[in-house]
Amino acid sequence: MNTSRLAVLDSLQLDKLPRIPPARTPPEGATQLYHLADGIILSIGPTNSRLVDLTGDDELTVDFRYVNALEQLALGWDMKGVEQLAPKLVAAGFLAEGPPRSDSVLAGVIGGLDDVVGRELATGWSPRVKAAHEATLRAHARRKRFFEQIGQCPVLPETAVRRALTVGDAEVVGKKKVLCLGDDDLVAMPLAMLGHEVSVFDIDDFLLRFLGDAAREQGVSIETREVDLRDPMPPDLLGQYDVVLTDPMANRECFELFLSRAIALTKPGGRLLSAVFPPTTKLFKTVATELGLSIDAWHARHNRYYTHAAKLHWYESDWVELRLTETTKPTVLADAFSVPLNLYREDFAQRRPSFIGTFEDIGELRFAMPYFLDLLVDVVEKAADLTLTHRVVHAGENDWSVVHGTTEEGHLLLHVDRRRKVLSIELVPFVPQVEDAIRHFVMNVYKPNPAEASVVTSNIVWELRVR
Ligand SMILES: C[S@@+](CC[C@H](N)C(=O)[O-])C[C@H]1O[C@@H](n2cnc3c(N)ncnc32)[C@H](O)[C@@H]1O
Repeated sequence: MNTSRLAVLDSLQLDKLPRIPPARTPPEGATQLYHLADGIILSIGPTNSRLVDLTGDDELTVDFRYVNALEQLALGWDMKGVEQLAPKLVAAGFLAEGPPRSDSVLAGVIGGLDDVVGRELATGWSPRVKAAHEATLRAHARRKRFFEQIGQCPVLPETAVRRALTVGDAEVVGKKKVLCLGDDDLVAMPLAMLGHEVSVFDIDDFLLRFLGDAAREQGVSIETREVDLRDPMPPDLLGQYDVVLTDPMANRECFELFLSRAIALTKPGGRLLSAVFPPTTKLFKTVATELGLSIDAWHARHNRYYTHAAKLHWYESDWVELRLTETTKPTVLADAFSVPLNLYREDFAQRRPSFIGTFEDIGELRFAMPYFLDLLVDVVEKAADLTLTHRVVHAGENDWSVVHGTTEEGHLLLHVDRRRKVLSIELVPFVPQVEDAIRHFVMNVYKPNPAEASVVTSNIVWELRVR
C-alpha cells in the first residue's frame, strides 16, 4: 500500500493555515492555482472525515481541524499566504498545479462502474444521450469532496442520465423548466445537455460551485441557488417549474419537507420525480397520499449509487413519477420555516443490528447434543430474562443440531456442526444482555481456553469469532 501521498500531510500542520472565505470564482489576482491531485478525494462525515487515495486504495482519517483547509484545496486554491507549502504538497503528489478540473482517475473508476451496471441499458442511447452521459461522467469526476453530514451519496452517472430521460429529450418532449431540489447526483447536467432550462437548489455551496463550473466548461447553462429547504421558499419562484426532481433521505420528516417544497415550486398539474428507498415504500405512499399527490409510475431498483471511495454502493432506490392534482397541498407551507429534528437520518438504518457468534474447534462434543443445547437455552432464558415464545429442536443424524426460538422481536438460533466442531449463534436483534449470557455459558462449556477472538461490528451486524 502506498501511503506517501497521504502521510506527507501529517507533517504540515494544516490547522495553522488561515481560513480563506469560499469564492464563486478563483481568487482575484491569483497567480497560481492548485487542486487536489487526481485520485485524491476528501470525504467529510458526521463523526470523522477521510482522505481517500484511489490510486493506492488507501485512506487517512483527517483531524477535524484540517478539514477546512483541505476543503479549500479541493476547490482549487491559490495558496496565498502559505505558498511555501505548495511545492512540498506538489512533490508528494498530493496537490497538482492549475485550476480544478475533472479527475481522470475518478472518471476511470466511476466510468468502470457505469459500464458494469449500465452498459446494457445504454445500448439504445442516441448520440445526444451519449454526449449527455459523457458530460455527466466528467462532472462527477470533478467532485473532490463529499459531504456525508447532509446525506450525500451520489448516483452513478448512468443513473443520472436515466433519471433525466424520464423527463425526456427537449427535442422530443419540448423544452421544460426543470428544478433539481438537492442535486449531489448531478442530474442537472444530463437535463441541461438534453436541452432543458435547468435550476438547482442545494444547501451545499461547494456542490453548486463545481456544478456551475462543469456546466460552463460544457457550454450549457445551469442556474444554481444556495437554498436551505428548511427556510421559506423564494416567493417569486412558487409554481414556476414544469418538473421537479428530488432524492430525499428515507424518513418521514425529509419526505414531507422535500415533497412539500417541490409541490410549492411546481406548476399546477406539473410532475414530481422522487427517489424512494424500497423499505420505506409504505411510508412514502402514506406521505404522498397525505399531500394529495398522484403516483403515475413506479420504477423499481432504478437508481444505483457509489460510495465516497468510488466503489459501488449496496444502496439502491426506486424512481417514482408523481403528479400534482387539484387536491395537492404541501404540509410544510411555502412561506413557513421548518425545523425537522431528524432530517438526515435514514429510517432503514434504525433497524437494530443482529449478532452472529462462531465458536470454532469446540470441545465436549458429547454435550453438544440436542438435549444439552435445549438445557443451555433454558439457562440463558433465565439468566438474561428472555422469553422464547416458541422453541423447536432439530437434529440431523449425528452431525448437527439446531435449537431455534422466537422472541417477541426476532429470534435466537443455536447451531452445532459436530463434524466440523463449530457452534454458531444468531441473535436477532442483538440484545447485549442475551448475548452476554449465551456467550458466557457457551464459552464455559465448549470453549474454556480460547486461542483468540475477534469482533467485527457494523450498523447491521455484530460478529464474534472465537478460535
Ligand atoms: C438529501 S441528499 C440525499 C441524496 C442521496 N443521493 C441519497 O439518497 O442518499 C440530496 C441532496 O439534498 C441536499 N440537501 C440536504 N439538505 C438540504 C437542505 N436542508 N436544503 C437544501 N438541500 C439540501 C444535499 O446537499 C444533496 O445534494
